[in-house]
Amino acid sequence: MSELLTAIEKTAREGLEAAAQAGDAAALERMRVEYLGAKGRLTELSRALGALPKDQRPAAGQAVNRAKTELTAAHAKALLALDRGPDVADLLDVTLPGRRPARGRRHLISRTMSEICRIFGQLGFTVVEGPEVETDYYNFEALNFPADHPSRDMQETLFVGDGLLLRTHTSPMQIRTMEKTRPPVWVVVPGKTYRRDDDVTHSPMFHQVEGLAVDKGLTMADLKGVLTAFAAAFFSPETKIRLRPSFFPFTEPSAEVDIACVLCGGRGCRLCKGSGWLELLGSGMVDPALYGFVGYDPDEVSGFAFGLGVDRAAMLKYGLSNIRHLYEGDLRFLTQF
Ligand code: DAH
Repeated sequence: MSELLTAIEKTAREGLEAAAQAGDAAALERMRVEYLGAKGRLTELSRALGALPKDQRPAAGQAVNRAKTELTAAHAKALLALDRGPDVADLLDVTLPGRRPARGRRHLISRTMSEICRIFGQLGFTVVEGPEVETDYYNFEALNFPADHPSRDMQETLFVGDGLLLRTHTSPMQIRTMEKTRPPVWVVVPGKTYRRDDDVTHSPMFHQVEGLAVDKGLTMADLKGVLTAFAAAFFSPETKIRLRPSFFPFTEPSAEVDIACVLCGGRGCRLCKGSGWLELLGSGMVDPALYGFVGYDPDEVSGFAFGLGVDRAAMLKYGLSNIRHLYEGDLRFLTQF
């Protein structure tokens, strides 16, 4: 019995040695055939087990199996090493700094939109959202647009058939909100808007945040107060605003709101074309004609509204000159913010 065990151990040692010495695939294959093959040395040894007395067979059997496992593993390892060339551990400098996997983040526009909503949230407005595919009624008619208004033209609006269109502004939500709720109403509406426009400052898909407040006794002073607070929070505490008379079908009176130029602070530069002011948004007092569409009593309530271009606000805040940078998905640009 001890003779057989000794022979098994010797064979295992020699096999391991042969695997370690094999310099190429042919030598390794010879090692496999000699030790592990069907007529190999370990196979011969397991045949010899049969001649042993019964009580000695288990120990010898285990020894042969162990030797087979060891040699099979040594063969596999040597084979891998041949395939791979030198061990990777020898080539790898574990002291080198690692490469950071690129991590996703929210797009500049999403973040700007959230920030705008957060600021108005602190001023008492609630966020609501509405459909991007709209009807003529909500996008135009109930907002007091006359039938021959140029924005109802194919040149300006993207129609999708069946009397439906891609909303050209977030203002339709003024009507949808008032239809569903009684005053007081204080809402902001962030969302995507669409127009047939495409140049360095216009994209066919862009973003707006609409604001609507309808309550007892609201005046233009409330509008100006809210927008002054917004400009201070969004741009910088000293940012001045001014209201300029304007026209929108759904507000009367209407005002365009400018902020003091973010680049020169009002002295006049290339960005503000020497005027010291930059146009930021449209606004005004809700035209009482709208109350007729939603069943509000114009003698009871008054309101103000505004519509802010998010892309434009982001471009002003971060000094971007081309709106297309926002939509080309170029990480070299987007990860700067
Ligand atoms: N809807 C207008 C636009 O897209 C912007 C606007 C102007 C919204 C005046 C308003 C407003 O709520 O009162 O150009």
